Amino acid sequence: MTELELRDLRKTYRARGRPAVDAVRGIDLALRSGELLGLLGPSGCGKSTTLRMIAGLETVTGGDILVGGASITARPAQQRNIGVAFENYALYPPLTVAQNLAFGLRARRRADRADVDRKVKEIAERVDLTAILDAHPAGLSSGQKQRVSLARALIREPDVLLLDEPRPTSTQPSATRPAANSSASSATWAIRPSWSPTTRRRPCPSPTGSR
Ligand SMILES: Nc1ncnc2c1ncn2[C@@H]1O[C@H](COP(=O)(O)OP(=O)(O)O)[C@@H](O)[C@H]1O
Ligand SMILES: [Mg+2]
Repeated sequence: MTELELRDLRKTYRARGRPAVDAVRGIDLALRSGELLGLLGPSGCGKSTTLRMIAGLETVTGGDILVGGASITARPAQQRNIGVAFENYALYPPLTVAQNLAFGLRARRRADRADVDRKVKEIAERVDLTAILDAHPAGLSSGQKQRVSLARALIREPDVLLLDEPRPTSTQPSATRPAANSSASSATWAIRPSWSPTTRRRPCPSPTGSR
């Protein structure tokens, strides 16, 4: 079954006094359940913009986004079950690792505290964060921050998991590394959570200015 589909998805950034930027010029793709897709391309070619539109963090200029066959394009981010691990990790500095992991669950549903604690424990074991659950982000290595960011996206059991620039670090357990070659410096992954994904790569064209 096709889980994620983009149909002629477009984004033009327009700001007063500046030329418009066609960041995404009609991307079409379809991912089946369990599939992993990497968008590879130079900086500025529209990878993050594409992910942000899928997650609902950026408005769409044209086209459609479907999950499980239904359009989600008009839905706000909180009504899309999509997990994002951001390039800059975007962790909450005053919160511990455990609180960072629990935050999305507590904010989203009035979840039972014992259930949230159990999920935090489970995901921490899965990505090797158990020993640092009480630490704050400022004291973590970049590899640890990356794993917290990944765990925070996974804990919500999203339909689609988006990883922006998930460069593997030497501290990252092999089970959490993207399955495909990620040696390119600008790789972006969109995957349906699965521990044995199939893999495709798609080149990303450079954006152009327009009027
Ligand atoms: N908020 C924004 N306002 C205006 N232009 C933007 C904005 N975000 C990104 N862009 C432009 O859109 C293009 C694509 O950016 P981005 O999606 O971040 O590329 P990538 O992730 O592939 O490096 C770039 O030219 C960038 O400068
Ligand atoms: Mg980017």
